[in-house]
Amino acid sequence: PAILLLWAVIGYLLGSVPFGMVISRAMGLGNLREIGSGNIGATNVLRTGSKPAAAATLVLDGGKGAIAILLARALAGEDAAQIAGFMAFLGHCYPVWLGFKGGKGVATFLGTLLALAWPVGIACCLTWLATAALTRISSLSALTAAASSTIWIVFLTTGEAFILGVLLTLLVFWRHRENIRRLRAGEEPKIGKRT
Ligand code: G3P
Repeated sequence: PAILLLWAVIGYLLGSVPFGMVISRAMGLGNLREIGSGNIGATNVLRTGSKPAAAATLVLDGGKGAIAILLARALAGEDAAQIAGFMAFLGHCYPVWLGFKGGKGVATFLGTLLALAWPVGIACCLTWLATAALTRISSLSALTAAASSTIWIVFLTTGEAFILGVLLTLLVFWRHRENIRRLRAGEEPKIGKRT
């Protein structure tokens, strides 16, 4: 258990690095809190107008989830990997550095799944892309990808990650409460648009 606790802490710390915030500040793109949705994720970084900054945020926010899992798996096994991935996701959504007001977890969710069970990760990324191609709405694509994840876990794996997948999906929905309200009101902006 001590080793699992250690990987929980390492996962949380990795996940809590708010790359969107760091990158947009370093590139002088302004304060994400005052832009678009106010979120720290790649979708909102794109609203600053910088595609490279948004792409870097996506890769790094995804990468921190993947790294947490791969490190934990290599050094402490599969249970540690699942815990590290879950805690990296929580770290992104509730980072101590930002008063626990973090992101919505989509990039970290995808990175975590890619490292945990890559066919599921790929299927979720494709689900995100397909929904985005159809609707041009990032949050809706994220919700669809998250909701699809448990289906992919059932069909593409032997199910070890099922409970983790369900937990992450519920948390992604919880973090998108505001987006869900805007979607229902027909007020959710398309990708790259501020309003
Ligand atoms: O990755 C978060 C995305 O699903 C929604 O972002 O900024 O439109 O709330 P945002």
